[in-house]
Amino acid sequence: MKAMAQRSWKQSEPLLLTEIPTPLPKPNEIVVDVKAIGVNPVDWKMRQRGPLRFAARLIGPPLPFVTGVDFAGVVTAKGAEVKDLQVGDAVVGGTNFSRGQRGSYADRVVVRPDQVCVLPPGFDLEVAGALPVTGVTAWMSLVEIGHLQPGQKALILGASGGVGQIAVQLAKNVRGAVVVGVCSQKNVALVKELGADVVIDYSQSDPLAAAKAHAPFQVVVDCVGGYSGSACRALLGPGGRHVMVAGDSPLAQAQVLVPPWTSKSVLARSTTARLKPVVDAVAAGKVKVHIVERFPLADAEKAHQLSQSGRMVGKVVLRP
Ligand SMILES: NC(=O)c1ccc[n+]([C@@H]2O[C@H](COP(=O)([O-])OP(=O)(O)OC[C@H]3O[C@@H](n4cnc5c(N)ncnc54)[C@H](OP(=O)(O)O)[C@@H]3O)[C@@H](O)[C@H]2O)c1
Repeated sequence: MKAMAQRSWKQSEPLLLTEIPTPLPKPNEIVVDVKAIGVNPVDWKMRQRGPLRFAARLIGPPLPFVTGVDFAGVVTAKGAEVKDLQVGDAVVGGTNFSRGQRGSYADRVVVRPDQVCVLPPGFDLEVAGALPVTGVTAWMSLVEIGHLQPGQKALILGASGGVGQIAVQLAKNVRGAVVVGVCSQKNVALVKELGADVVIDYSQSDPLAAAKAHAPFQVVVDCVGGYSGSACRALLGPGGRHVMVAGDSPLAQAQVLVPPWTSKSVLARSTTARLKPVVDAVAAGKVKVHIVERFPLADAEKAHQLSQSGRMVGKVVLRP
């Protein structure tokens, strides 16, 4: 199989198109012929010094290192124990290095069935490929951690980004919540179009101070990092949750230890149960995925430069 891989863990090590032997599926694994790969900040963060790279080095597969999580494609082989998936099924999912799996920047991935969701007929594979990390993160934040119910309020910090766009739409169109989104002036119209009831332009005023007028919130989802944890918690109603999507530093994550323990961190892991409601929402037209750039897999470095700008207003997709 072909993959974009780096040969060492050096900081400056480039991703190079590399031939890697395709592993045979174990009895509980499937092989997927990858058609589209969504680019996420985690893909380049795993190449930089920090907790993600440390974990991948410690418990991930041996070098060469293939980065990437998101994929959509078609099942081409399966192990003897796999009953619920068939060769030829179109699926979406995420790789998991803690299971010893290589990343998704490749023309093949080998994963377990509980990491994928079968796509409804006619589902656009490019849209599917852009969904897993953002969709699963938004779902976990709003539903699993936030317990967001119809009529309650959700505040989404970073509403114009990959996770933020899906969170606004899931909160509004699937959970029936009242949504307040925070973004810069140039993205206000887009965030309104996605369904936010109120949009706060962070370049005009302190967004958390402005959000006070709309409190209390059931959930405050921080997709930016750097916002004050105590200010976020102060906006919550009883039983509310401040969900830290961004903020990788141990100091940021230490907010979970601060009473009254309403700050929670999220670690996105693609599972069938989390992917299914997101896929269903897209199939029903309740969530739209905004793809802004497409690159051949070999141009993954260009995609990483774009993502690292921190100014993306939608998804970048790689095609093997
Ligand atoms: N914990 C997890 O499991 C998990 C999962 C997914 C993502 N993440 C992390 O969450 C973060 C967001 O991911 P993503 O995929 O959504 O990234 P992204 O698409 O690259 O986010 C870029 C967006 O952030 C907006 N933004 C930047 N600064 C902002 C600010 N101060 N206030 C409001 N919006 C701001 C930008 O809009 P403007 O240009 O208008 O500022 C841009 O639209 C990343 O740090 C990522 O690593 C964590």
